Amino acid sequence: MLDRGAAGIVGSRIQRHMTSRNDTSGTGPGTPAESAFQPASQVDPRVMTSARRRGLFVTFEGIEGSGKTTQIERLADRLRQAGEAIVITREPGGSPLGRRLRTLLLGEDVGRIDPQAELLLYVADRAQHLREVVEPALAAGTNVLCDRFVDATLAYQGYARGIDLELIRMLHRSPPLDRRPDRTMLLDLDPAVGLDRARRRNEDLGLAPTEGRFEREALEFHTRVRDGYLDLAEAEPFRFRIVDAEGSTESVEARIADLLSDLFPALDEDGVS
Ligand code: TMP
Repeated sequence: MLDRGAAGIVGSRIQRHMTSRNDTSGTGPGTPAESAFQPASQVDPRVMTSARRRGLFVTFEGIEGSGKTTQIERLADRLRQAGEAIVITREPGGSPLGRRLRTLLLGEDVGRIDPQAELLLYVADRAQHLREVVEPALAAGTNVLCDRFVDATLAYQGYARGIDLELIRMLHRSPPLDRRPDRTMLLDLDPAVGLDRARRRNEDLGLAPTEGRFEREALEFHTRVRDGYLDLAEAEPFRFRIVDAEGSTESVEARIADLLSDLFPALDEDGVS
């Protein structure tokens, strides 16, 4: 089923990512992020006003149990305290239609979902979410922190389920689906650790450890997801930052703040340690 050697991304590639995860040199000239945030002293205030008009779109990705949701909330608190307008949202389920789709995709027992049907449901969720939530917020100057986005479709439906990556990319070529994040934070974690965390979380909630369509998948599936994410990150170093998601919540929070401080200078100023 895996037709692009998706499972063949091996330790050496992961190692390369792990050793370069704090390298922020990827913010190249001309990226939307950099051009929108020149130091105030060097910029004509009128230019700065127009450059900052649009909000920043930051997405968070990672395998099950990588801690995205907690980290997004912590980051949002910190940014709001610094005066930034922030919307937290997620896929699937960021819009009223999306919440219905999320139940179908992850909650209800609807039997085995065909991989193509699954793909199209995630894409339907995204189109509605972009149109109804993300684009209006960005246009109003609000920064959007989004728990999963198109890279999740590439990693889960593409690399892990084996759907052609080019087909997925083709579906995202026209508005509203052609929106790209200004920055994508990949919370990287050993899949065995992540799966264990996700299953324990289910138990804490009184659910079966394997509750949820993806918690039931074998470790190999999650390894393909992780390797897929690392492959995507390697292909787009300007957009991605890889965050080591092992360690305490506070230490991961500090890593994220450090890797976002070029976009949000307040993260540098308020002494995250
Ligand atoms: P989460 O919101 O708890 O991360 O769960 C969302 C699940 O949906 C997660 O297992 C990953 C999966 N997913 C896909 O398979 N494809 C997608 O495009 C998205 C957004 C999520």
